[in-house]
Amino acid sequence: MARKIEKIVLAYSGGLDTSIILKWLEETYECEVVTFTADLGQGEELEPARVKAAMFGVKDVRIVDLREEFVRDFIFPMLRANTLYEGQYLLGSSIARPLIAKHLVAIAKEIGADVVAHGATGKGNDQVRFELAVNALDPSIKIIAPWRQWNIRSRTQLLEYAEKHRIPVPSDKRGEAPFSIDANLLHTSTEGKILENPAEVAPDHIYRRTIDPVDAPEAPEIVTIGFESGDPVAVNGKAMTPAALLTELNELGGRHGIGRLDLVENRFIGMKSRGVYETPGGAILLAAHRGIESITLDRAASHLKDEIMPRYAEMIYNGFWFAPEREMLQALIDRSQVCVSGEVAMRLYKGSASVISRTSPSSLYSSDLVSFEESSIAYDHHDAEGFIKLNGLRLKSWAVRNIR
Ligand code: ARG
Repeated sequence: MARKIEKIVLAYSGGLDTSIILKWLEETYECEVVTFTADLGQGEELEPARVKAAMFGVKDVRIVDLREEFVRDFIFPMLRANTLYEGQYLLGSSIARPLIAKHLVAIAKEIGADVVAHGATGKGNDQVRFELAVNALDPSIKIIAPWRQWNIRSRTQLLEYAEKHRIPVPSDKRGEAPFSIDANLLHTSTEGKILENPAEVAPDHIYRRTIDPVDAPEAPEIVTIGFESGDPVAVNGKAMTPAALLTELNELGGRHGIGRLDLVENRFIGMKSRGVYETPGGAILLAAHRGIESITLDRAASHLKDEIMPRYAEMIYNGFWFAPEREMLQALIDRSQVCVSGEVAMRLYKGSASVISRTSPSSLYSSDLVSFEESSIAYDHHDAEGFIKLNGLRLKSWAVRNIR
């Protein structure tokens, strides 16, 4: 028989599912459960989570504002690589999990608990991300994933369990399963229900933080973004903290219908899934960051970054944030950003965020070199002739062989 568990730290959203999990943990393990609710800028009032947890007899309720840490230490480092999973997804949910896991582990250490629990289901990526992060941060901690352990096998059974334990079920949660929504400062992700059929067009009412580009303002809006060593630091000349900056761009982007994505992606655990994402600020930052890199990064450095990016993205998507290979690539990426400073002007217009100008004190762009006027330095047209000749040599041999 396993040793009795004394304390469990639960990642608690305050929603129906994690409330049921909280009750189930208390019942099943007859131990103290400490709840941890992270404020990642999900745009929801989090105090109700405190009241709810207290209602279930939780004595130690932790609600922690992690917004600055989230943007500074997780989103911005990821942005430095222009990270996209499968060419399109900005990883809004993927990047939040290691942060939540980090704090679960920290609280567990602080209170002397050796078990943490999460409410991710048994079919998704999030369970993998939570657990791999916990493994990497503290190998002695055990993990309970109720969705994989209990006997509840359906939505109906879940609601029955709630009824039986007098857990209040909000009226909108009574019928069929709701959309599975995950929101934070980087994105809102919506999955499930009608979206499970990739042939169905996503209804407009599922979008929560972006307007339909068709209904966006007729007038474009220009916004400038200042960068320092690869990270955005100012909007329209005003210096801002990471979280304040992203909040501001989410607001601007949402108004112009920027950052919507309807995607069928490949989950790590082996199935395809369809989701709708809204990443207004992230979409603006991605385009702006490429804009500032275009004048500050050397070609080979830039292309090398682009080569490793898909692998880096996959590491984050699959839950390997706290893994040696991700840290190695991060070191490479960070090293490339030393001179990625300056300002980019963006035009926001009906769903698009386009770079319209860029300046940098450390620009590599040379008007002198590119100009059609006779240039003063280093470039001799005769060099180009030889350059093309030598590059063409092997193509000539190849063509001769093909003709033969
Ligand atoms: N499919 C996305 C991902 O794996 C979003 C997951 C959202 N999570 C959720 N619990 N609804 O990163």
